[in-house]
Amino acid sequence: MVTFNINGKKVQGQEGWTILEAARRHGIDIPTLCHHEALEPYGACRLCVVEVEDGRRSQVEISCKCSIKNGITVRTDTDRVNVVRHRRLLQLLDERPGWDKLQELAKAYGIPPSWSWWRSPCPSPYW
Ligand code: FES
Repeated sequence: MVTFNINGKKVQGQEGWTILEAARRHGIDIPTLCHHEALEPYGACRLCVVEVEDGRRSQVEISCKCSIKNGITVRTDTDRVNVVRHRRLLQLLDERPGWDKLQELAKAYGIPPSWSWWRSPCPSPYW
């Protein structure tokens, strides 16, 4: 059994679980686009990033590829995490502007539906 902290709550998970898997099992939502339980983690969308502190340093990690470890602290909704998600959403929207799931996530991160790289800079609540 692995014991760690997520969003200020001490929780447990099984050896080998990813942070994404553990978070979901504890009712914590982390946005994803490329994750599917039947497939090996691919790490393409990078929307599932979280901040992980291991006692020495804090890093932004891809939660669908990063395993839980004893004593780590995970935060799923920090400014640092939201900046990464916001920037990644802007890139993905540029590639796939009409995708509903992407539009839904963009709205949740304050990106206007009509936004595009060539029309206007996007105001961000994160920088
Ligand atoms: S869900 Fe896409 S990188 Fe983790």
